[in-house]
Amino acid sequence: MSRAEQKLEGSPMATNFNQTTNDDVNSVASVSDDLDSDEELFARSRKRRKTTRKVYKGVEEVDPTTDRKVVLVTGGAGFIGSHTADYLLSRGDSVVVIDELNSYYSVDLKRANIAHNLNKHGPENFTFVEGDICDESLIEEIFSSYKVTHVCHLAARAGVRPSIDDPQIYVHSNVRGTTNLLSAAAKHKVKNFVFASSSSVYGGSKSTFFSEEEVVDNPVSPYAATKKACELLAHTYSHLYSLPCTGLRFFTVYGERGRPDMAPFKFVDRISKGEEMLQFGDGSSSRDYTYISDIVEGTVRAIDRPYKYQVFNLGKGSGTTLKDFISIVEDFVGKKAVKKILPDQPGDVPRTCASTEKARVLLGYEAKVSFREGMRRTVMDYNRRNGLKDSQAVLQGEGEGESKGMKKMVKIVSTAELGLCV
Ligand SMILES: NC(=O)c1ccc[n+]([C@@H]2O[C@H](COP(=O)([O-])OP(=O)(O)OC[C@H]3O[C@@H](n4cnc5c(N)ncnc54)[C@H](O)[C@@H]3O)[C@@H](O)[C@H]2O)c1
Repeated sequence: MSRAEQKLEGSPMATNFNQTTNDDVNSVASVSDDLDSDEELFARSRKRRKTTRKVYKGVEEVDPTTDRKVVLVTGGAGFIGSHTADYLLSRGDSVVVIDELNSYYSVDLKRANIAHNLNKHGPENFTFVEGDICDESLIEEIFSSYKVTHVCHLAARAGVRPSIDDPQIYVHSNVRGTTNLLSAAAKHKVKNFVFASSSSVYGGSKSTFFSEEEVVDNPVSPYAATKKACELLAHTYSHLYSLPCTGLRFFTVYGERGRPDMAPFKFVDRISKGEEMLQFGDGSSSRDYTYISDIVEGTVRAIDRPYKYQVFNLGKGSGTTLKDFISIVEDFVGKKAVKKILPDQPGDVPRTCASTEKARVLLGYEAKVSFREGMRRTVMDYNRRNGLKDSQAVLQGEGEGESKGMKKMVKIVSTAELGLCV
């Protein structure tokens, strides 16, 4: 058994849908002898296995692979990339990271992310290459030198508002970079190409839950347009070269070592320092915030399952309004926010909320961390990094908000029931 297989044993990702269940055995054994030849029995068993496999809108689930992988993680010095690399290394895979360490936000933070993984896992299975994913000869060298088996492509210019000011740089990294990687992956026949798309492709969708079947032809920012372009390019390479490709539409990701340009970090930082923070709009806009460990788990589940071409939402499946978000941060930080209210920003969408049904059925994905608990951990991480003391609300621990909410819900339900009885 390989090291990766040993580490996978007992992990939720090791679910092996190939295993024969007791139900399968019983049903085959109970088939009448005089009717069935061995061949017929096998045919039935095969058919049964097929029918017990989960299906989502005509797509049949793919069995997870548990082989030891050599994963090229692009953007692996960034927020999601460094957490994903950490997870892959922990379970015994080899990881090669390429990142250009651009200055979109602090390069020191990106270097610290690389150092974190190097210190934790050592250099044996972890390689860091500093460079641009658009550099064709560098990418070719990486694929041939390290015998890459899987690609987890997370490198991108991220952020909606800056893409309006500088669309060229977004087209460079996100469109040209992705095309370069797809070409190399197809040439080297990698087993699976997983890449980051974004919830921003849904633009101003009015649906309650954004589902993968929606037509997403109306992006409202250059960033969203480049992410949609990545999906189209991946589909093309999958079709032309039989390269298995999966796009993941992440819904606002936050957590430890989170991006400093994003609201969860900014709000904690400003409120902690007693500085003025900007609130765009009246506070009714809502986002499906997804905690980093849930995103990493969904991403790795996708890496392990080589679908021909699929796109999945990875979100929590419920939204939080800006107003509630700020009050949760105030609670954990233990201070009131000093707010400056400004109009909505161009390019921003009023609300996002993922339908996670497809990812649940085909990837076995389920978001586990509530927003309140995720923010508690985020504030705790911020306090640790900045030598600050945790507030009472942080120390009170997991799920405090949820249990309060649950009690309130139970009360409302019983009052309603009482009303019905009377
Ligand atoms: N964080 C979120 O909420 C979120 C939401 C939706 C989608 N995404 C997508 O997920 C992926 C990861 O996002 P993140 O939040 O970790 O962002 P991040 O900025 O922390 O990480 C991206 C990394 O890619 C690197 N990079 C950019 N262009 C490059 C290039 N040309 N060559 C090499 N490296 C390059 C950057 O230096 C950075 O370290 C991105 O593709 C992003 O668009 C993120």
